[in-house]
Amino acid sequence: MPDPNPQAMEFLLTRRSRPAKTLRAPTPDAEALRPILTAAARSPDHGKLEPWRFIVLQGAALARLAEATEEAGGRLGKSAEDIAKARAAFADSPLAVAVIEVRKDSDKIPAIEMTYSAGAVCLALLNAALASGWGANWLSGWASHDRGFVEGALGLASNERIAGFVHIGTETSTPPDRPRPDLDRITSWMSE
Ligand SMILES: Cc1cc2nc3c(=O)[nH]c(=O)nc-3n(C[C@H](O)[C@H](O)[C@H](O)COP(=O)(O)O)c2cc1C
Repeated sequence: MPDPNPQAMEFLLTRRSRPAKTLRAPTPDAEALRPILTAAARSPDHGKLEPWRFIVLQGAALARLAEATEEAGGRLGKSAEDIAKARAAFADSPLAVAVIEVRKDSDKIPAIEMTYSAGAVCLALLNAALASGWGANWLSGWASHDRGFVEGALGLASNERIAGFVHIGTETSTPPDRPRPDLDRITSWMSE
């Protein structure tokens, strides 16, 4: 027989992101962040490769990343609007955790499964932050896909890339939730 956890199910059925631009201090300190990161690292990972790591970004580091979007945006020919948006995502963030996908050598595990696992870590991190009472939002942005930006400003190695920046803080306003998928449209059953 199933052994339900109604409180966990209620959380999963009602959880939602809190837009990054609504997030401000206070943010979780190191002690409060530890169980959130621990929950995130408790994610499905084929072959126990641990193909991910975290960088916790705050204060001057976020300001430095905001600055670095100017160089990357200029080099990539981004519009002033795109650069301003990318800059603000870092400059206005009270705290962000960069989830880094770390590709490991494996004859057995396809590389795409490491990518899936890194995505699972992002969602687990987001949910753990929300379940802890913080506002949180998973963002990427064009800069996160630029090698010059991630290697220069974040020190990523060539086998590493950004799975997401999970911004965490205190929500200052609550925009309406977004529409949710029609389950019947996306679900089919096969019995034979
Ligand atoms: C990989 C990934 C990258 C994303 N990057 C952005 C982004 O750069 N900017 C943005 O506005 N939303 C981005 N989103 C969407 C936000 O996370 C959005 O808040 C989220 O889909 C809301 O879902 P929820 O309310 O179910 O948590 C991204 C989502 C994913 C999965």
